[in-house]
Amino acid sequence: MDVNSDSIYGGYAGSLEMVAKSLLDKIEFLRKAEVEKTGHDTVEFVSTRIKSEESMREKCERKGLPVTPLSALTEIHDAIGVRIVCGFLDDVYANVKHIRDFGGVEVINEKDYIRHSKPNGYRSYHMIVRVESPITDILGNKPGKFYAEIQLRTIAMDSWASLEHQLKYKKNVKNQALIVSELKRCADEMASTDVSMQTIRDLIQENS
Ligand code: GTP
Ligand code: MG
Repeated sequence: MDVNSDSIYGGYAGSLEMVAKSLLDKIEFLRKAEVEKTGHDTVEFVSTRIKSEESMREKCERKGLPVTPLSALTEIHDAIGVRIVCGFLDDVYANVKHIRDFGGVEVINEKDYIRHSKPNGYRSYHMIVRVESPITDILGNKPGKFYAEIQLRTIAMDSWASLEHQLKYKKNVKNQALIVSELKRCADEMASTDVSMQTIRDLIQENS
C-alpha cells in the first residue's frame, strides 16, 4: 500500500474505490441475470460513494473513536456506501435476498426502516456487509475484508430522503416545525402509494 499520512483512509482510499467497484459489478451481474430470467429489472439505478474525509473524521469524533485509518476502516462501517434504488417494494426485498447470497460478501447487520420507519418518516433497508477482496487490508488479512453500507429503497423513498437531507444540513431554516410535519405527511403518503403501486403491479401480472 502507498503511504498517505494525510488521508483518514491511510493508503486505502484507492482500495475502497476498488472494493466499491467490485460490489457494483456483483449487483450489475445479478441484475442482468434477473432481467434474463424474468424480463423484469429489479433495479432502477445504483450509486456508490466513498465517505468524504471530512465526514469520516467527524464521524470518528462523534463516536468517540481515535481519528485514524484503523477506526475509519474497521470501526466505522460505511466508508463505502452503495445505494440501490428500485421501482417497487418487492424489488427491494428481492435484492436484499440476493445480497445475502452474494459470494464473498458477509452480511453483518440489517435494519428494516421500511417496516419500521424512523419517527421523521425515513424509510430504507440498510445492510452492513463485509466484502472479501484480493487487496490486503489494514489488519494484514489476505484476502482483505472491507465494510460497506448498502441502502435499498424505492424511488419515492429516495426522493423523500434527498429532500429531508437538505433540511438536515441547512441551518436556521424558518418554519421548521411545519416543514418537519409536512415531510412526515409526505413520507407516509408515499409509503402508502408504494404499497398501492405494488398491488397494481401484482394485479397486472396476475391478469396477463
Ligand atoms: P450513523 O451512520 O452514525 O447515523 O449510524 P446509524 O447506526 O445511526 O445508522 P443509520 O442506519 O441510522 O443511518 C445510516 C445512514 O442512513 C445515514 O448516514 C443516512 O445516509 C441514512 N439515513 C438514516 N436516517 C436518515 C434520515 O432520517 N434521513 C435521511 N435523509 N437519511 C437517513
Ligand atoms: Mg444515523
